[in-house]
Amino acid sequence: MNKTIAVIKGDGIGPEIVSEALKVLDKVAEKYGHTFTYKEVLAGGCAIDATGMPLPQKTIDTCLESDSVLLGAVGGPKWDHLGGETRPEKALLGIRHELGLYANIRPSKLFDALKNACPLKDEIVGNGLDLVIVRELIGGAYFGKKVIIEKNENGEKAAYDTMIYSVSEIERIARVAFDMARKRRKKVTSVDKANVLESSRLWREVLHRIAKEYPDVEYSDMLVDNTAMQLVRNPGQFDVIVTENMFGDILSDEASMITGSIGMIPSSSLGEGTRGMYEPIHGSAPKYKGLNVINPVATILSGGMLLENIGEQALGELVERAVTEVLREGRVRTKDMGGTSTTSDMGDAIAAKVRELGRS
Ligand code: IPM
Ligand code: MG
Repeated sequence: MNKTIAVIKGDGIGPEIVSEALKVLDKVAEKYGHTFTYKEVLAGGCAIDATGMPLPQKTIDTCLESDSVLLGAVGGPKWDHLGGETRPEKALLGIRHELGLYANIRPSKLFDALKNACPLKDEIVGNGLDLVIVRELIGGAYFGKKVIIEKNENGEKAAYDTMIYSVSEIERIARVAFDMARKRRKKVTSVDKANVLESSRLWREVLHRIAKEYPDVEYSDMLVDNTAMQLVRNPGQFDVIVTENMFGDILSDEASMITGSIGMIPSSSLGEGTRGMYEPIHGSAPKYKGLNVINPVATILSGGMLLENIGEQALGELVERAVTEVLREGRVRTKDMGGTSTTSDMGDAIAAKVRELGRS
């Protein structure tokens, strides 16, 4: 197999964690005789510094020509003074939009070895925690019309964002969630704010219709505020959560934290074809840049998701098993897991484990 992967290291700790993910992908390639051709491109703050724009056209073109995109993280205080359109985050939103990546898959799973790092009491996570958030990624308030009113009727500055969804945008993300539930514990919770928002009432109406196509999947609705509470009260009740862009952004950070570390959670962003983008759900952690202390597991697991989505299910599982095993052995732990190992120690240990566990 020969695949081209666009690599966006990004800002802050991005380059460090992506290097570890490539180390692991290289080990997989070496072991199984595959070739991954990496094409490194700029996006985010580093792209602003180099080209004046957060998302240069060359980056978009390279991503469109590649089989997959692997991304570290973008943003940092250096660029915080910039306005909405020129901020590093715009690069991320832009790639998602340009590639039509409407489905963001964010699994939260409690690794046995990290049970102690989970901030919830034992009796709460007693049933374990293994859920996936399916977040709509290119609609809602993040992409709807944004307006700044310099002077409103009271002479004050005001601003608004438009949370807008069309039926087809809701249908396609609903199907992703139901299809995924069929491969898991067959349960979908759709999260909205239908007691207040029109866009949520439409969301709920469409979800109910699509649910009828999946009679084998247990379906329920939950309001977003209640969901935020239920995630820390009884997270074991969830299998697949499907929700709109902003709610998914917020809930996925919450869900990641209850696994013990936000440094553990990978994500994939998918559209109609097989080309996806893979990235950790955490940010660029600028204060740790260059210190070699950040946990690279989320990015390494994102590489695993990449393998699964290019048709190499077994290799994706191999990466996950290697991570699980290294955590279980417990010799290598980064700071967020209560250890003292470095970013590269963790990458080395997981790459070595891939070599050990993989077919010889
Ligand atoms: C995420 C991030 C991004 C988002 C930001 C950086 C634009 O928070 O991937 O969750 O809101 O989607
Ligand atoms: Mg976020």
